[in-house]
Amino acid sequence: MTIKEYVAFRKDEIRNLVYSFDRKPSIAIVQVNEDAGSCAYVRGKLKDADELGVKADLIKLPLETTQEELLEVINKLNNDHEHDGFIVQMPLPKGINEDVIKLAVSPKKDVDGFHPLSSLVPCTPKGIINYLHFEKIDMQGKNAVVIGRSNIVGKPMAKLLLKENMNVTVLHSKTFPEDMAFYIAHADVIVVAIGKAGFLDNRFTYKKDAVIVDVGISRTEEGLKGDAIMGLPVRLQTPVPGGVGLLTRLALYENLLEIYSATK
Ligand code: GUN
Repeated sequence: MTIKEYVAFRKDEIRNLVYSFDRKPSIAIVQVNEDAGSCAYVRGKLKDADELGVKADLIKLPLETTQEELLEVINKLNNDHEHDGFIVQMPLPKGINEDVIKLAVSPKKDVDGFHPLSSLVPCTPKGIINYLHFEKIDMQGKNAVVIGRSNIVGKPMAKLLLKENMNVTVLHSKTFPEDMAFYIAHADVIVVAIGKAGFLDNRFTYKKDAVIVDVGISRTEEGLKGDAIMGLPVRLQTPVPGGVGLLTRLALYENLLEIYSATK
């Protein structure tokens, strides 16, 4: 099943569940940046909410918003009874410290799962693991390689793969090229999240049964490109666009329903 088909199937399930509730779950989306990526993500999230029967409020703040002003908005959202949860769309403009903002969101309302005390898993790794389960990818005792060590993808992804009893190696910008090639050649699951268009290509060799999960999305002259070139000789490779971005959006609403159910 393609990711598009899988997401449509899960959305049907979620929509039916939401329709059985006597109160609509509600989410606020705070957007400060106006870059094309953020706008596309936010548009997608609002469309999903509409399709799922979830109430979504977009709080769009001017680009000149200061950290103090954003913290005030967050404080209000932490304490209101109108929204079950909210997210602050990343990246934020220069001058606003993203770590400060992530810590300011109450773990009780943190749909992104970014707060260290949040009981929720960040959306991208969560969406990926759910999809790997759905595709019945055998993970126990197998080799996983995570390329990239960001706080919102690489690190939580490595932790989740470890929970699946995989042998997890995290590679990054300081990894020696020969080691990169070695680990990739032995990997059963490769999650790449570095934002370098076409980084995984035919320079490397892959196990023919490998699964490549492509988290990268770069705007190039030839359109949106993932961190891997298309058509690598493996069992399964997620496309860009129409891949992990859809899984992330789905996981956002799965997280919102977890918060909703815990507070009902
Ligand atoms: N920017 C890119 N991905 C995400 C995400 O999952 N959550 C938020 N808040 N911002 C993002």
